[in-house]
Amino acid sequence: MKSKEICCIGAGYVGGPTMAVIAYNCPKYNITVVDSNKSRINQWNGPVENLPIYEPGLKEIISDVRDKNLVFSDKIEESIKKADIIFIAVNTPTKTDGKGRGMAADLTNVKKCAELIAKSSSSDKIIVEKSTAPVGTGEKIKTVLKSINSKNKFQVVSNPEFLAEGTAINDLMNPDRVLIGGEESREGFEAVNTIANIYKQWLPNNKIILTNLWSSELSKLASNAFLAQRISSINSLSALCEKTGAKINEVSKSVGMDSRIGSKFLQSSVGFGGSCFKKDILNLVYLCQYFNLPEVAEYWHNVLKINEYQKERFFDKIHKSLKDIKQPTVSLLGWAFKKNTNDSRESASIDIAKKLLENNYSVNVYDPMVNDKTIIDDLNNLSVLNLEKLNIFSTVEEAVQNSHAICILTEWDEFQSLDYTFLSKLMQEAILFLDGRNIIQKDRVAKIFENTQSIDT
Ligand code: UDX
Ligand code: ADP
Repeated sequence: MKSKEICCIGAGYVGGPTMAVIAYNCPKYNITVVDSNKSRINQWNGPVENLPIYEPGLKEIISDVRDKNLVFSDKIEESIKKADIIFIAVNTPTKTDGKGRGMAADLTNVKKCAELIAKSSSSDKIIVEKSTAPVGTGEKIKTVLKSINSKNKFQVVSNPEFLAEGTAINDLMNPDRVLIGGEESREGFEAVNTIANIYKQWLPNNKIILTNLWSSELSKLASNAFLAQRISSINSLSALCEKTGAKINEVSKSVGMDSRIGSKFLQSSVGFGGSCFKKDILNLVYLCQYFNLPEVAEYWHNVLKINEYQKERFFDKIHKSLKDIKQPTVSLLGWAFKKNTNDSRESASIDIAKKLLENNYSVNVYDPMVNDKTIIDDLNNLSVLNLEKLNIFSTVEEAVQNSHAICILTEWDEFQSLDYTFLSKLMQEAILFLDGRNIIQKDRVAKIFENTQSIDT
């Protein structure tokens, strides 16, 4: 059977788990995952307890398939050459300079992959766009491939990733749908079907949607925009709840029980984070501006504005409550952008810590999975001032010692069972408790902390 050699460029949060699950379900396919970051590849090849990303269930699958039909390698050209199908799963950060700065996605990594594929290939290949990328990326990949290599035929297919971090393995094993978009030609149709055949190894046909390149690319942005919009909608109402005495969790529950609306993604928070939502909505806004649709651009941009507003509100609340304290210390519990991941990209914790440090607060941080270097890098990347006032601890008790406020910023399970009576004794007076993720029963905490507040009250 043909098309059984797969190469995936990018061994990150998308490439790693996706290829692990494909390898697990498709024993007849040989998969090589490559990355320009050699130490990352070494980590993937090292002990499963120390994989570069934390994802529940991942280490079990890696133990099962690694060095059987899944290989991690730094020999990029060699792997490209022998592959029939190449997934591009590299990161596409937001541009930091030039046209579209702060908005458009930086496609440098994707373009580099396309160039390398074109140069290293001596046979026809299917190129699968897996990275979160703006609409039109597939066309750009095609242009790069054609301009460098006219001997081989390349079909570019969009197969956006819908996995959410923290639940990636389950999302990949049991996805709501798999989307595959290709060129509207006979060759394009064949390429789409070749990719569909991979997923058919463990998924029924009705879960696999076949479409064209643009629809596939836009559907990914649209899904993330809708999800983020729900969070911003509920977060905007949490501000109104604080003014009126309504309870956001009650509103959320009631709204979510309407089966037309549904209950998911209605949890009010200190703001959404992660590598996708902000970037995808910025891409959508940029696309609408490009096509001269200012009203549509503004509509979606407001989803991001509410997210920033929510973080500002959270900080203002701390600032107002602790304004009379001479040398205030705030403990931030949770740095990851959500539970069950060691990823902190765009985490609300980063912005809250930045605002606190720049207003002369001492900041104590504890997170069970994010390492110290990542926390410091996250702040350095934003050129945050007063970093000497940041302290990172390896237990909650240490992080809370002598502080004036506890802020829960990630909904880690271990924070749900904390002994607040004990913790309050470790703290200084003027105790403040802010539950940015609405995970603790308010009544339980209110009995312990005199000055209990939360984002929704
Ligand atoms: C998201 C999409 O869910 C996924 O389909 C896509 O492939 C990538 O982007 P991810 O960013 O990994 O996944 O996490 P997600 O579970 O969507 O959470 C994003 C952020 O929203 C987190 O910070 C989370 O805490 C926050 N959130 C989520 C809320 O604030 N409230 C909610 O009700 C749900
Ligand atoms: P994502 O969440 O999109 O998977 P990550 O940053 O976790 O993003 O992973 C992307 C991976 O892609 C990184 O390990 C990075 O080193 C790798 N990468 C980026 N550009 C290239 C490239 N041109 N060639 C090979 N690997 C690349």
